[in-house]
Amino acid sequence: MVGQFSLDDRLRYERAAPPCAVVIFGANGDLTKRKLLPALYRLAYERRLPAGFAVVGVSRTEMSDEGFREKMREGVTRFLEDSPFDAALWDDFARGLSYISGDVADAGLYERLRVRLAELEETRQTGGNALFYLSTQPSHYETAVRGLGEAGLQRATQAGGWRRIIVEKPFGHDQESAAHLNASLQRVFAEESIYRIDHYLGKETVQNILAFRFGNGIFEPLWNRRYVNHVQITAAEAIGVEGRGAYYQEAGALRDMIQNHLLQVMGTIAMEPPASYEPNAVRDERAKLLRSIRTLKADEVASHAVKGQYGRATIGGSEVAGFREEPGVAADAQTDTYAAVTVFVENWRWAGVPFYIRSGKRMPKRVTDIAIQFNQAPLALFEDTGGQGWPNLLVVRIQPEEGISLRFFSKLPGAGMKLRPVTMDFNYGTSFGTRTPTAYETLLMDALEGDATLYTRQDMVEASWRAVQPILDVWSGTKFALPNYAAGSWGPAESDEMLARRGHVWRVP
Ligand code: BG6
Repeated sequence: MVGQFSLDDRLRYERAAPPCAVVIFGANGDLTKRKLLPALYRLAYERRLPAGFAVVGVSRTEMSDEGFREKMREGVTRFLEDSPFDAALWDDFARGLSYISGDVADAGLYERLRVRLAELEETRQTGGNALFYLSTQPSHYETAVRGLGEAGLQRATQAGGWRRIIVEKPFGHDQESAAHLNASLQRVFAEESIYRIDHYLGKETVQNILAFRFGNGIFEPLWNRRYVNHVQITAAEAIGVEGRGAYYQEAGALRDMIQNHLLQVMGTIAMEPPASYEPNAVRDERAKLLRSIRTLKADEVASHAVKGQYGRATIGGSEVAGFREEPGVAADAQTDTYAAVTVFVENWRWAGVPFYIRSGKRMPKRVTDIAIQFNQAPLALFEDTGGQGWPNLLVVRIQPEEGISLRFFSKLPGAGMKLRPVTMDFNYGTSFGTRTPTAYETLLMDALEGDATLYTRQDMVEASWRAVQPILDVWSGTKFALPNYAAGSWGPAESDEMLARRGHVWRVP
C-alpha cells in the first residue's frame, strides 16, 4: 500500500548499531525501566542491535543479574507502548543484561566495572566499545565521572574502539552549576564523546521541523519578522507531579521544561539554515540562535515572565489535590508548576517578534505545539465579510496528534462574499501509516553510531541557562501569592495579561 512501511521495509533502510556495552548508572531508577530498556528492546526487535551487545546496570541497590533481568522484563512489558513483546527475543536480549551494585563514590565499583567490561569484550564481543549513561540523581554525576576517569574507563581498550558518555537532564541547576558540570565532564571525556541528552530533540516531529523548513522552498521566505507576527510554544501536561514531588519542588516548570526542551525547540524553529546536515553545522546554528536571545534585565522580569502553581480543584467530578498537597511537597512551596516567558531574539531575522513559551502541569490536556502566527493581510478588502481577526496560523503539532496544519481564509459557498477560516492538515499517522520511533530509540541509536546532531553541546546548554537565569534570580527573591491557577485550567490570569500587553492572546490548542 502506498505510504505504508512494514518492518521489513524499515530493516532495508535503517542502520544497525556497532558492537558495544551500554553501562547505565541509576539502573534501578524510573527512567531505565520506563524509557531506556523499552527503547533498547525495540531496537533489538528491529534487529538493529548487533550480537555483540550488552547492558550493564549499575546502582546502589543489591540485586543479582537474574533479579535485574526480571525487573527489566517487567518494565519493558509494561512500558513498551506500541511494540509487541516477543518472549523468545527478550530471552535472547536478556542474556546480554547484567548488573553491578555499588556506591558511585567507591573506587571498587569502577574496578568491578572494568573487569566486567573486559569480560564482555571476550564473551559478547563488544569490541571494547562502551557507552556510559548517567541517569543517577544529578548530584552524583560529577562523582561518577571522576570515578570513571580515575579508573581510566574513558579510554577504549582496543585500537579504533570508543568510549562515550550520555548525560541525562537536568544538566545543572543554574548557569553556574551547569558550567561546573561541563568542566568536570571535560576533564575526563573529550567534548565529542559527551552526549547531553534532551529527549525533545529526538522526537520525530521536532526533527521534522528542519525538513519542513529547509526541505521546502515556500516556507523559508516567510520565516522572518516581515511576515511573522509572533510565535507561541506550548507544552501542556494534564498530569500532576506523579510522585516526583520532591524533585519537582526544587526544579519547577521553568527549569524542568523551558530551560532545556522548549528552548531547544525554539532554537530549531528559529535558527538559520545550516550549511549541511553535519552534527556541528546544525548545532552551530542552534547555538547561535540561543546566544541571540536577549537577556532580561532584573526589572523586566515581572513583565516578561509569569510564575504559576496549581491549586486544588474538582475535575470531571473528582477532587484533584493542589501542588502543595502532593507527597513530598512543602505546604508553602514557591515552586512554579506553570511558567510562561516572552523571549526576544536579537538578530536580523527575528528582531521585535515575541516568542511566547509556556509549560505547565495539570493543564486541561496533554499537548505540545508551536503556533506561528503571521501578520494579518494588509488590505481591508474583506473587512465586512468575516475576513478579519483570524490571521494565517501555522501549527506544528509535536504531540500527541503529530502533524502540521495551516489556517487560511476561504469563501463560504453560496451567494455573496462571506469568508471563513479553514485548515489544511497533515497528519503523520494517516500519511505514513507507520509507527513513530520514540525519542529514546532515536537518541540511543545516534549515540551508538557516534552521531551527536540531536544532542546538545556545552555552548547550547550554557546559552539556554543564560536566557532563564535572570528569571530564576528574581523569582528566588520574590514571594508569590500561590496557588494562582486551578488544576485543570490553562494557567494564571497574569499569563493572559502578559500577552494582552502586546495585543496577543494565547490560543487554545
Ligand atoms: C521531562 C520532565 O524532561 O519531560 C517531565 O522532567 C515531563 O516533568 C517530561 O513530564 C515531558 O516529556 P514528554 O516527552 O512526555 O513530553
